[in-house]
Amino acid sequence: MKKKEIRKNIHVLPCVDWHRRLFDALIPLPDGTSYNAYLVRGNEKTALIDAADPVMAGELMSQLSDVEKIDYIISNHAEQDHSGLIPVVAAKYPQAEVIASVKGRGMLADHLAISENRIRAVQDGETIGLGGRTLKFVYTPWVHWPETMTTYLVEEKILFSCDFFGSHLAASGVFVADEGAVCEAAKRYYAEIMMPFRQIIAGNLEKLKALEIEIIAPSHGPLSRRPAFIMDAYRDWVSGPPRNLAVIPFISMHGSTARMVNFLAGELAGKGVAVQPFDLAVTDIGKLAIALVDAATIVIGTPTVHVGPHPVVSYAAGLANALRPKAKFASVIGSYGWSSKAVETIAGLIPNLKVEILKPVMCKGLPRESDFAALSALAENIAAKHGELKLK
Ligand code: FEO
Repeated sequence: MKKKEIRKNIHVLPCVDWHRRLFDALIPLPDGTSYNAYLVRGNEKTALIDAADPVMAGELMSQLSDVEKIDYIISNHAEQDHSGLIPVVAAKYPQAEVIASVKGRGMLADHLAISENRIRAVQDGETIGLGGRTLKFVYTPWVHWPETMTTYLVEEKILFSCDFFGSHLAASGVFVADEGAVCEAAKRYYAEIMMPFRQIIAGNLEKLKALEIEIIAPSHGPLSRRPAFIMDAYRDWVSGPPRNLAVIPFISMHGSTARMVNFLAGELAGKGVAVQPFDLAVTDIGKLAIALVDAATIVIGTPTVHVGPHPVVSYAAGLANALRPKAKFASVIGSYGWSSKAVETIAGLIPNLKVEILKPVMCKGLPRESDFAALSALAENIAAKHGELKLK
């Protein structure tokens, strides 16, 4: 890709990773991703905001081939997908000063072996002038890591937000073309890396209200000319109440648990509760993460393997525990051959979830009439609990 001018003397340097399918060896990327660097020229100085992943060295450096001078290399976030190429850029521009938050300075030294002598730590709210243009650094911690900050270009009202408001979405266009598609990708990204810190994210959103923003320029995915659409979505994800939604991540080996899940899903739907079952044997775990942003209830479905839950279910429970969704209720359903401690084991895997545990339903072998009656009662209980909270 070639760099593209978004305002006079402000360019995005898009490094589009069309075919990447996994991030951090954990997060599925069904639509690829991009790493956006930005070049901002003032009358006197030039700044590069963020860099790109080391796999994109050729792509980024070719877009910098006609750039003679960079004075500042801004690292909004020390993670390798944005700062991994800073050592390469810094070597090409030996006079350039690397700028990071106070925590970012240490993290760049730790993770990328950049000498701290080369890095200037800026305080929250500090500014740097480029000549007719001003970069203001706004600390926005935990929009992935603790050191993260955003950079606001005061005169142009552009917020360079790095992971914040970003989306793993490879695209040839620079700006958002389909808000729905971007919103889903951004929600997936929020769920996977920011949801556990949503109270801090809420504070960051509040802090950004002080800025007039015309363009949000993230370092993943398309730029937004209508910041309200993505900022309002974030407010809902972070601070809104859970929805009248039950998610059922499950595994079934011989069909008993699947029958129970299908029956429970039908009962819930019949009682007006939205329901999303996820067969963990085949599901995109990112879809489950998206659903966890909104779900009021999580029902985990598992057969019994060596007395405990299926290992894939244990993995999903551990992931949900790490993501700390805002669910209010949880339960377990499933099956066993002769004995089971699956319920106790799962309960021990989700201590971070501040949920009321609703009566589990475990059946021996095939589910029978009494088991289906218990599932009906569970659905009734879930619907009543959601009703008490007036969830929509
Ligand atoms: Fe896109 Fe946390 O890096």
